[in-house]
Amino acid sequence: MAPTKHPSSIIIFGAKGDLTRRKLMPALYNLFLSNYLPDKYQIICVDYLSVIEQEYKNDLLAGINEFSRTGKPEKETWNKFSANIKYLQGDFLKAETFFELKGLIAPFEGEKKKGIRMFYFAVAPRFIEIIADALYKQVLCNQDNLHRMVIEKPFGTDLQTAQKLNRFLRKRFSEKQLYRIDHYLGKETVQNIMAFRFANHIFEPLWSREYIDHVQISVAEQVSIGKRGGYYDASGALKDMIQNHLLQLLCVTAMECPRTYSEETIRSSKAQVLKDIRPFTPAAINTNIVRAQYTAGKMAEFPQVAYRKEENVSSLSTTETFVAAKLFIDNKRWKDVPFFIRTGKCMPKQSSVIVIQFKSSPYKIFKSDIEANRLVISIQPEQEISLLFESKVPGLAMKFRNTEMDFTYKDSFIEPVPEAYEALLLDVLEGDATLFMRADQVEQAWKVVMPILNAWKKNPKKQLHLYKAGTWGPTTAKKLLQNHAKDWHELPHKESVAK
Ligand code: BG6
Repeated sequence: MAPTKHPSSIIIFGAKGDLTRRKLMPALYNLFLSNYLPDKYQIICVDYLSVIEQEYKNDLLAGINEFSRTGKPEKETWNKFSANIKYLQGDFLKAETFFELKGLIAPFEGEKKKGIRMFYFAVAPRFIEIIADALYKQVLCNQDNLHRMVIEKPFGTDLQTAQKLNRFLRKRFSEKQLYRIDHYLGKETVQNIMAFRFANHIFEPLWSREYIDHVQISVAEQVSIGKRGGYYDASGALKDMIQNHLLQLLCVTAMECPRTYSEETIRSSKAQVLKDIRPFTPAAINTNIVRAQYTAGKMAEFPQVAYRKEENVSSLSTTETFVAAKLFIDNKRWKDVPFFIRTGKCMPKQSSVIVIQFKSSPYKIFKSDIEANRLVISIQPEQEISLLFESKVPGLAMKFRNTEMDFTYKDSFIEPVPEAYEALLLDVLEGDATLFMRADQVEQAWKVVMPILNAWKKNPKKQLHLYKAGTWGPTTAKKLLQNHAKDWHELPHKESVAK
């Protein structure tokens, strides 16, 4: 992909925040390094704190030193990149901020005004409408497809607020200008699932209820909620992870092949999966969902306090830090195939994995126990795909052992794997929304979880389990798998260290 020819202004609201320092700036820097930023670009960092621009840049550099996949920048490269960064101190609630912003963008674009403007909302949700309205009223972001807004999650806090936010934005901007981000879709290994399924003829015919017994999707995190108690306690794992990241992993795993490789057809295929998820009835919520919260334990060698003792968390909190669920997709391909999904904080390993468990061989001619085939798609931190199959153990007896055929990025490619935010920011510059959530996708994902949220709201303590930090969640989560597996599949075992 060649860099866009248009002069581009990248405006980050929430420039002093963690996301900017850990993810956005390292991603922009790496795009610059690989020549993907346009020749003419500026990055305007907006926040209400007053800082000295040079000190701000020094802090960004420290962030890049720590988080960039390419390591510490060369001095000269950094100077070249950072010469185009400006800090604008401004209150999002005040019109002056946006006048000043205009003052930075207009002369940069010059007479023709044919510039890309990417407005990145790395802000608390309460500021989204305020900033969007100011951009609209001051014609900073007008109905021009070159003007784009990137909205971070959480997109709403429930179906109603998401619908309201969509209506608010759509009154002022066209859908084409809105990029609702779910960074899981930008991960290289997640993008590869479509390639794996639709560029290889051998897997797709097996990808259905005829051959697949069940699917397991796990996103296990070693991290606790850290300093995010204020946000997390009002959210919980269902809203923070399931409504977005896990449902999106489910969509790429279960979607039909789109008619063409295009933004709308791909997003429609994914949206259809969400529409086909069997709605959760009260009975299904009781039997098919497990929620839990971590208690004190040990992470690696370090003590971990109980969730209720974390900073900014209520001591009586019923917020879940772990969710496991069994769900069904009621269409021809997946009818009655259970999809088991789970996510949790303070788990023993950091690992995101999709396991496709195939049915056993119908040929029962061997005396030994035969394990059914399994395909393991490791999204992170391992980046690999393994196919497990039975082989005869060399020797004079007809004995079997489960063996693996592996594809790993590090052995197969010399090309570096870009970070999700690099791919996504570049897509916004290019005007490609394929990996972003359309309004209907976000709303449909909320529709899936709303019955669960409502049931928990009604009975905050009912069936709230506890699990010790550093364990795999409550044992009840295993029961969901009944008739399909004894336990959740063990996650790939390279030790990863808690961040
Ligand atoms: C974020 C959640 O969206 O995703 C966090 O708010 C979570 O709670 C994070 O830790 C996980 O992302 P990744 O890329 O580290 O798996």
